[in-house]
Formats: sequence, C-alpha cells, structure tokens
Amino acid sequence: MQTFYLPNQDLLQDKIILVTGAGSGIGAMAAKTFAQYGATVILLGRTVHKLEVLYDQIEAAGYPQAAIYPMNLEGATAKDYADLALNIENEFGRLDGLLHNAAILGTLTPLPLYDMELWFKVMQVNLHAPYFLTRVCLPLLKKSSSASVVFTSDNVSKQAKAYWGAYSVSKAGVDNMMQIFAEELCENTAIRVNSFNPGKIKTAMRKQAYPGEDNSTLKSPEALAWAYLFLFGKDSQTYTGQYFTEYTLQEMITNP
Ligand SMILES: NC(=O)c1ccc[n+]([C@@H]2O[C@H](COP(=O)([O-])OP(=O)(O)OC[C@H]3O[C@@H](n4cnc5c(N)ncnc54)[C@H](OP(=O)(O)O)[C@@H]3O)[C@@H](O)[C@H]2O)c1
Repeated sequence: MQTFYLPNQDLLQDKIILVTGAGSGIGAMAAKTFAQYGATVILLGRTVHKLEVLYDQIEAAGYPQAAIYPMNLEGATAKDYADLALNIENEFGRLDGLLHNAAILGTLTPLPLYDMELWFKVMQVNLHAPYFLTRVCLPLLKKSSSASVVFTSDNVSKQAKAYWGAYSVSKAGVDNMMQIFAEELCENTAIRVNSFNPGKIKTAMRKQAYPGEDNSTLKSPEALAWAYLFLFGKDSQTYTGQYFTEYTLQEMITNP
C-alpha cells in the first residue's frame, strides 16, 4: 500500500459493495481489497468460473463472505436489472458502494469502418449498463448512510484519439453521466458519484489495446488498491461530481 494513504483495516467494515467485471483485472483487485478491509462484496461478472475463483480466495483469506452474481451486461434486459436490485434488497437491504468497472475495448479502427454490431455491444456494456445499474440501485444506495458510486473512465474520455471509436465515445458518455448523477443526487441524498481513470494497468484489456507493448514496466492492478479504498471509504465522503486520476487523487490526499 502507498504510504500517503494508509487506512485502518476496518475502513469498509459492514459495507456492502457491488463490483462489476469483478472476475479479472482491476475489478478483481478492487473487490478483493474491499473484502480485505471489511466489506461484503457482490461480485458481478459474465464468467462464472472467474467469480468462483475470487470468491474462494476471499473465503480462504478469512474476509467477509462474498456473493456471486453472474450477469452478462451485453444482453441484460430491464428485467435483469430489476431482478438484481430485488436480490440485493432481499439479501442485504441496502448498498453502500457501486463500482462500475466492467468494460470491453471493442476494436481500434476508423469510425466509418467500425462494425455496427460491435458498436452496439461496446455501448451496451460500457455506457448503457452503468446507467441502468445505477438507476435500479438508487433506492438501495439511498438506504446507506454514506454511499459511493464510482464510474471507470479512461484518458480517451477527455482526449479523444483516432481509431478508439466506440470505447472512447462510451467513456466520454460515462463521465458526462457521472456528472449528471452527481448533480442530481448532491442535494437530498448521501450518495457521492465520481469517476476514476486508472491509467495504464497491466490487464487483459491493456494487452488487447497494445499487443506489442513490453508490459513489464506497467503497474499491476494491486498498485491502485489505495485509490479504490479512498474512493469507497469515509475519507472521500465530501467529494462528488469529480473525475479523478491516480495523480489528482494522490495530490488531494497529500495536500488536502
Ligand atoms: N487496464 C488499463 O490500462 C485501463 C486503462 C484505463 C481504463 N481502464 C478501465 O478499467 C476497467 C477495468 O478494465 P481492465 O483493464 O481490468 O480490463 P479486463 O481485465 O479486460 O476486465 C474487464 C472486466 O469486465 C468484464 N466484462 C466484460 N464484458 C462484460 C459483460 N458483458 N458483462 C459482465 N462483465 C463483463 C470482464 O469479464 P470477463 O473476465 O468474464 O471477460 C472483466 O472482468 C474498464 O472499465 C477499463 O475501461 C483500464
């Protein structure tokens, strides 16, 4: 853990946090870290086996028992979202955190050549799913004394780049949506809404985007554990409507 943010081991005790795309990469790291700091995590993802591996790791480590929720965000319907909210309501009664982490890269290609079906898929997973999920989870988040919703951004949200197509457009939409939710919720609720751009991290998605890159110099997801703890713990309670990078977060923590 970075020395500039060293929270207590019980930072997230009794918190209920839903993580999408929890089976691998940054999502798996975040979910495991939340559990390590006391949270009960709901692991949502499309590949059941990956979720089961993480579930077992959390159990073996003696952290609070996790819950697995297999769901393919690509084809999810309004009923699927409503069922998820109902299940969380019945099982836990509320939600203290929602990490929108699942995403797909699609393909890197010029806009006029972008495969239309793939365009729809990228929008569905990266943009529509976080919208519907936030929407159905709002009643659960409102039951928390202090809830945190974090969308996952990317450099190409703020600085569009040729060939990044649907992925770039979806991430720009995510940041825009984050601000709308934050503004709408800041007055009468205890829900804060922010987005976080993890930067260059050694995962399957990074490999897909940069297949020829020497990834030995990239950070592993674990290097960002502190950032996710900060965003979901009490120390970020006063921040909402903000787009964070690793560096802006670090600056904020060291010079509050
Ligand atoms: N890595 C980077 O350098 C980087 C940089 C900037 C932003 N990000 C963002 O960070 C987040 C995590 O990315 P990552 O790098 O950790 O990528 P990753 O390893 O590819 O993980 C993506 C996760 O999303 C899940 N997912 C994909 N499609 C899904 C669907 N239809 N339904 C449910 N879950 C689905 C995947 O599940 P399966 O494992 O089952 O496929 C996987 O667990 C993404 O939002 C990404 O845009 C990453």
